[in-house]
Amino acid sequence: MTGYAPGEQPSDDGVIKLNTNENPYPPSPKVYSALRKAINPSLRLYPEPLSDSLRSVAAGVYGVPLENIIAGNGSDELLSMLLRCFVGPQDRVAFPVPTYSLYDTLVEIQDGVSAQVNYPEDFSLPETLAGQHAALTFLCNPNAPSGTLVSLPEIAKLARAVSGVLVVDEAYIDFAATEGASSVPLIRRLPNLVVLRSFSKSFSLAGMRIGLAFASEEIIAGMMKVKDSYNLNRLSLVAATAALRDMAWMKRNAQRIQRSRKRLSGALKRMGYHVYPSHANFVLARKKNQNLRPIYEELKRKKIFVRYFDAPGLQDCLRITVGTPTEVNVLLKEMVALEV
Ligand SMILES: Cc1ncc(COP(=O)(O)O)c(C=O)c1O
Repeated sequence: MTGYAPGEQPSDDGVIKLNTNENPYPPSPKVYSALRKAINPSLRLYPEPLSDSLRSVAAGVYGVPLENIIAGNGSDELLSMLLRCFVGPQDRVAFPVPTYSLYDTLVEIQDGVSAQVNYPEDFSLPETLAGQHAALTFLCNPNAPSGTLVSLPEIAKLARAVSGVLVVDEAYIDFAATEGASSVPLIRRLPNLVVLRSFSKSFSLAGMRIGLAFASEEIIAGMMKVKDSYNLNRLSLVAATAALRDMAWMKRNAQRIQRSRKRLSGALKRMGYHVYPSHANFVLARKKNQNLRPIYEELKRKKIFVRYFDAPGLQDCLRITVGTPTEVNVLLKEMVALEV
């Protein structure tokens, strides 16, 4: 199996799904063949408890010792582990908003206190984030839903200024337009920094549930204590390891998405939207003070799903996942038709 023809995706139900930031391209063919080989009687055995095979391949790819890496059942599981490690009742957890909604949900589950700091209009790092006396501070970088990116010097400064642990959620970093935007190398000199990665977006493996966290040995050892014994199943471990062995596949798809993102952003701007500079596989398009629910509903009627947030400050926005060139064309055609 070699994957889809360039720019195409089979669509069996006629739905164009641009609402949850999945990758429109398939996983590497090497992932498929590794999975096929792994379907054998060894499935009766428990998987590796510490995901050592995946961690050692990740160590090579990211240039970080194995002791500084932990694998999770999606980065969502790693987020949940971090809350259990560092946040007790009434502890403060700071993050700029709007951002990934799970942070707030996890804080509530833990009986912690969310210290939400509004992003300025341009989604630059809020100056007051560091002074929140938080046990944990989250920074989603690139941010969801804006797609905007904070620079490494700003992140290093933030890590030094916060009172507790800083978690940089890099679920979308492989789509960044800037080379060397990842905070992973910073963990060597910043002992309170945790960097999260997901295999759901750039590696096209949302269905397999795999994430990685990079941090000091001490933090990783603490996270190991709270994790379930066998948190990654055998097939997910195989898929993740094979995906990391074919970085060229992931990078090629990320580049295709960057090109489509540029075209989509340009077209939306010409239609009068403000489009935030996106470093992710989605764009946030705003029509200032115009509720975009009717556009979202109309697109849904045409089986094109984009994300509308019925939340203060975001009702004049649509978040659109970057699809294949064909999907982008269909979306734009419908959006232009709705303008008139
Ligand atoms: C910012 C952010 N972090 C983490 C996740 C969760 O990723 P995973 O599928 O690895 O659990 C998502 C998923 O949409 C996300 O948007």
